[in-house]
Amino acid sequence: MGRNKIAVIGGGQIGGVIAQLAALKQLGDVVLFDIVEDMPQGKTLDIAEASKVDGFDVNVKGTNSYKDIAGSNIVIITAGLPRKPGMSRDDLLVTNAKIMRSVAEGVRDNAPGSIVIIISNPLDAMVTLFKNISGFPPNRVMGQAGVLDSSRFATFIAWELGVSVKDVNALVLGGHGDTMVPLTRYANVNGIPVPELLERKYKNKEKAAQVMKDMVERTKAAGGEVVKLLKTGSAFYSPASSAISMTEAIIYDEKRVLPVCAFLQGEFGVSGYYVGVPAVLGAAGVERIIELTLNNEEKSLFDNSVNAVKTLVADMERLGL
Ligand code: APR
Repeated sequence: MGRNKIAVIGGGQIGGVIAQLAALKQLGDVVLFDIVEDMPQGKTLDIAEASKVDGFDVNVKGTNSYKDIAGSNIVIITAGLPRKPGMSRDDLLVTNAKIMRSVAEGVRDNAPGSIVIIISNPLDAMVTLFKNISGFPPNRVMGQAGVLDSSRFATFIAWELGVSVKDVNALVLGGHGDTMVPLTRYANVNGIPVPELLERKYKNKEKAAQVMKDMVERTKAAGGEVVKLLKTGSAFYSPASSAISMTEAIIYDEKRVLPVCAFLQGEFGVSGYYVGVPAVLGAAGVERIIELTLNNEEKSLFDNSVNAVKTLVADMERLGL
């Protein structure tokens, strides 16, 4: 068995960091594709020239030809415009759907056996479009959102409680938009519920609830917070790391339980849509979706988020994208 081959489609901010991380971690040979001439070749040359210093021994190649992604077992898609300040992810629909269409054809025709992780926004619509055009089975087409949204939530909890983020477990479900659902009840620090720790810290139920609510709101708006600061683009380090952790789960068959934008076929009462839910990631891609009990409030927030995804997909169809 040869090395893994990881293709990254879109050599912009996120794509460049993914290529570098994949090389540093020696996940496999890396191909960085972009339509812009010379740019992916330049980035990969730059990354490769650090191989001696960093001590990695994989090939990193930039290209403008889909033929070079042949034989990839993992394809990570970051092609598409990022947000500008004031934009929602959904504002990217028309432009990025056109891009995704060409990317899906390129991947379908050149890496037909690959497992695909999509990052381009608006995520839930882009994943749907990729699946429809490629005809790939749902276990091999997924989106990255929940790993990052959950990491953001966990980071805010760790800062608030003054504990290591490594000990914080937090889960964000639903679509990757303003309606996403950070689950407060399941958030914990090594098994100890976060709401309880907040109540102990503040000795006041209302204050604790307010602090939790603020963290939830910050999580939902976290992508926009970065966009507002950067002014010229959106988050790229953290989305890249998130896609890499999903890639590791797949290539090492880890059976990790991660929140993934996955195709639902009856789970959570939803059929035929991509929504963020906990899933087991292993060698086959999305191997299983893990259902959990939601209380009435969580269920209604989740349903609201699913409805936002349905509207986005309907818009895409209505616009003939
Ligand atoms: N095929 C391949 N690549 C393309 C295409 C295409 N048809 N059209 C554009 N690209 C490339 C651009 O040339 C650019 O290099 O996609 C890259 C996108 O990079 P950035 O603009 O730096 O955007 P980035 O921050 O990496 O975000 C990419 O991920 O999180 C989402 O909202 C974000 O949709 C955006 C995507």
